Amino acid sequence: MELAMIDDSIVGIDEAFVSAHDRGLYFGDGVYEVVLLCKGKLYQMDEHMDRLVDSLRKIDLLDSVDLDVIGERINRALSHSKLENAAVYFHITRGTAARSHDYDENIQPGFLLTIREVRIEFPREVTAISCPDLRWKRCDIKSLNLLPNIMAKHAATKAGAYGAILVDEDGLITEASSASVLLVKNKILQVPPLTANILPSITRAMLLDCAEQAGHDTLEESFTVEQALEADELILASTTNPVLAVTHLDSTQIGLGSTGEYTKQLAEQLKKAMFERRS
Ligand code: PDD
Repeated sequence: MELAMIDDSIVGIDEAFVSAHDRGLYFGDGVYEVVLLCKGKLYQMDEHMDRLVDSLRKIDLLDSVDLDVIGERINRALSHSKLENAAVYFHITRGTAARSHDYDENIQPGFLLTIREVRIEFPREVTAISCPDLRWKRCDIKSLNLLPNIMAKHAATKAGAYGAILVDEDGLITEASSASVLLVKNKILQVPPLTANILPSITRAMLLDCAEQAGHDTLEESFTVEQALEADELILASTTNPVLAVTHLDSTQIGLGSTGEYTKQLAEQLKKAMFERRS
């Protein structure tokens, strides 16, 4: 069954309420992860936990969090839910206190988790628009502050597209509003390098791994919208939508305008890794 967890308590998915004074609500003062549960196993959980630790450290919250307690709560929620395939979302906020920009290092962090059924179907074909990347300068942190991301996503929806591909001040693509961007040109899989303005996506790392295992070259080098428009294939990748083939960017057809062979092969490899090998 779908469920939620607030701090230590498991509650119904629609009965999850937190204090109005949670700093997550006032300031987006917290970090989160989304992990896929595939056939009852959390896929790439160690990688997600490593990234969570990294995010917590970077916002000066790590010392307040007992990671064993977090792990125990996640396991308890999974045993209670009994779902086999689901998206597991969890976040840690700095805690609850009267609104003040500064924080007391001694308050108890807040924890929220949801387990929701998802149908993971990939590859799928989508369209995208390009948008200015208006986010802050530490997008390597998986912060709860997602206002520029949701604004870009809604701009895409209003333009009749699925996704928004973000472009920085130098004209370089960073990532999409909630996914990594990968480009295929002449059978080379290219990704922007992991800098402070890019989330170290776990799906991106898996796809690079799949490409290398298939004997393909990979390249970590930034690319522009013009390069993306001239790509053979363009991919959006994230935990909940692991492989999306972008058929059109800003109404211009990419490659053949359908899911390319390279993307199909990567998707097949990733499916095997997710549902057969299991980490
Ligand atoms: N978002 N870049 C951004 C900005 C993201 O929000 C995400 C994922 C990714 C992909 O990361 P990963 O492969 O580790 O899921 C890249 C999640 C799924 C979300 O916000 O729901």
